[in-house]
Amino acid sequence: MNIELNISLLHDKIYRFYLIVFLTFFTSSCQATIPPITIKRLGGDQSLIYLGKDKRYLLLPVEEAMPEARIDMIVNNQLAGGMNVRLAREKIDYFVPIELTGLNHKSLVFQMKHIPDSAICWRAIDLSDEYDTSNNEKFRPVYHFTPPYGWMNDPNGMVYKDGTYHLFYQYNPYGSMWGNMHWGHATSQDLTNWKHQPVAIAPDALGAIFSGSCVVDKNNTAGFGKDAIVALYTSAGDRQTQSLAYSLDNGKSFIKYEGNPILSSPKPDFRDPKVIWHEPTKKWIMILAVGQEMQFFSSGNLKEWVYESSFGEGQGAHGGVWECPDLIELPIDGTDNKKWVLLCNLNPGGPFGGSATQYFVGSFDGKSFINQSPNLTKWMDWGKDHYATVTWSNAPDNRYIAIAWMSNWQYANDVPTKQFRSANSVPRDLSLYVQDGECYLKNQPSQELLALRTQSSEKYSFGVNRDYNIDSILGGDTGTYEMEVTIKNKDAEFIGFKLFNTLGEEVDIYYNLIDKSLSMDRTKSGEVSFSKDFPAVTTAPIQPNAEMKLRIFVDKSSIEIFGDDGRFVMTNLVFPNQPYNRINFYSKGGSYHVDSLQIHKLELANEPY
Ligand code: FRU
Repeated sequence: MNIELNISLLHDKIYRFYLIVFLTFFTSSCQATIPPITIKRLGGDQSLIYLGKDKRYLLLPVEEAMPEARIDMIVNNQLAGGMNVRLAREKIDYFVPIELTGLNHKSLVFQMKHIPDSAICWRAIDLSDEYDTSNNEKFRPVYHFTPPYGWMNDPNGMVYKDGTYHLFYQYNPYGSMWGNMHWGHATSQDLTNWKHQPVAIAPDALGAIFSGSCVVDKNNTAGFGKDAIVALYTSAGDRQTQSLAYSLDNGKSFIKYEGNPILSSPKPDFRDPKVIWHEPTKKWIMILAVGQEMQFFSSGNLKEWVYESSFGEGQGAHGGVWECPDLIELPIDGTDNKKWVLLCNLNPGGPFGGSATQYFVGSFDGKSFINQSPNLTKWMDWGKDHYATVTWSNAPDNRYIAIAWMSNWQYANDVPTKQFRSANSVPRDLSLYVQDGECYLKNQPSQELLALRTQSSEKYSFGVNRDYNIDSILGGDTGTYEMEVTIKNKDAEFIGFKLFNTLGEEVDIYYNLIDKSLSMDRTKSGEVSFSKDFPAVTTAPIQPNAEMKLRIFVDKSSIEIFGDDGRFVMTNLVFPNQPYNRINFYSKGGSYHVDSLQIHKLELANEPY
C-alpha cells in the first residue's frame, strides 16, 4: 500500500516536473512567436497594424518633410477615431505617441493609408510604456509656456475659477507641425508655473477643434449646472460651425453638447467664438471672426444665438483674414472712465508681414461696437511674434490678463525646434492710457513674473559717450533673464545696446530719437535662415520722455520689450546658439546716461508636470 502510494507520488512529481518544463518552454516559445507588431499589407499603400501586447503607447516615427499619412483607429471592427501623421519614409526626426491606455490590444487595429511599403516607419513603429517629454532642446523656453511635446498655436478658452487659471490651446499631439487640432490643457495658480493636464477636447465627426473661449455659467443659464465651465469652439469640418462642450468637474473633463453645432453660416471663414457676459443687457455676447469682419450675436442660454451686428468694413487693417476676437471693457489709467476694446487678430497684413494683433477702442451697447477713431489703425505689439491674443475670462480683482501665441504664420511650422513647436508670451495686464486725446492699450508684464527672479545683478549706472561694455550679464549663463533699464538722454541721436554671445550672434535694440522710434534688429540673432521672412528689424513709434524705461524679458528663444510702463511692447523670437551673455551700449551723435541697469535671472520653481 505504502509502496504503491510512494510510486504514485513519484509519478505525480515526475508528471508535474515535465508539465512545468513543457509549459515554460511552450509559453516562452509562444511569446517569442508573438511579435509586438504585425503588419498586413493590403496593397495600394494601405496597411493594417496588429499589436501583440498591451502597452501604454504606440510610438510613431515622424519625418516632417513628408506628407501626412492617414491613420484610422479600429476597435472591434468599428472606426474609433484617427489622426494624420507625417510618418517617416527616409529618416526619423522624432517619435509621437498614440495613447493606448484602456484599450485591449486584441480588439485594436490601426489602418495606415497613403504610406508606401518601402517607408522606414515600418521598421521603427514600436510599443512602449514610456514616452520621454523631458526634452532639453536648446531653444525650449524656461519660463514661457510650451506644450509637453507636439505643436501649439492659439491660446484658447482661458478661464479662471476657484483659484485656478486654465489655459487651453490649439494642440497637435501627433506632430510638431499644425494639424489634428485638439484643445490642449494646462492649469496654474500663478500664471507662470503651469501643470500639464490631459487633452481637454478632441476632434469628432463635426471636425477638428479650432479656437474658442470658456465662461463660468454662474447662474446656470444653459442648464448644465451652476458654475459649469462652458467651452464654445469652432468645429472645423467641411464647414466651420460653432459647438459647445461643458465641464462639471472644474475643467478636468468636457462633455460635448448633443445639439452641436449650435451656429452655422454660409460664410466659409466663420470661427473663433469669444463669449462674454454683458451685464447691462443681461445677455451672453458671442464675437465671431467672419472673413474680414467681426460678427456679434447674443443669447440668454449659450445655446441659441441671435445675430446682432457686424463690425469691420472700412476699419483698421485688412491685409488678411480677421481671427480670434476679444471684447473687454478696460479702465483708462488715472480716471474713473472705461472704454470697450475689440481685439482683432489679423493674418497676414501685420506691420512687419504675416500675423499681428490690432485693436479698436470705442463703445458697445450689447448690440454693436462703435470705433471711436475710425481713421486710425492701432497695433497691440510692435514685434513679429505676437498673435491670437486673448484674455482670461472671469479673472480675479477686475484684471484683464492677456497672452499671445509667440509666433507668426509666415514661419511658425519651420522654427528650429523638434519635439515641440511654439511658446506663449508672458502674461500681460491690460489697461488704457490717453495720449494726444487718443486711447491706447497699455500692456504691463503681470506682477506674478516678479516671483521668477532668483538672482539679481548689482545696479549699474554709467555714461555712454561711444561704447560701454558689460562682459558677463549674470553668472550661470542660462540665457533667461529680465533687464530693467532707465536711460536719460543728453544729446544722442541713437541710443543703442546689443545683446550678444561669444559666437558673435547679436540682437541690436536702439532708440532713434530723430524718428522717435525704438527698433529691434534680429537679422544676426542666431539661426535665421529657416525662413526668408524671419530676419527682420521691427520698429515701434515712441514718445521720447526725459526718462526712457525698458523691461526686457529674455528666454531661450524670445525677447519681449516693455517700454515706458507698457506704453509700447515688442515681442520677437530669436534662436541664439548660445545665451546672449554680454551687452554693448553705444551712442551715436551725442551721449546719454544709464541711470540704472539691473539684470534678474528668471527661473521657474517647478517643472510643468
Ligand atoms: C489663428 C487660427 C484660428 C483658428 C486656429 C486653427 O491662428 O487660424 O483662426 O481657429 O488658428 O488652428
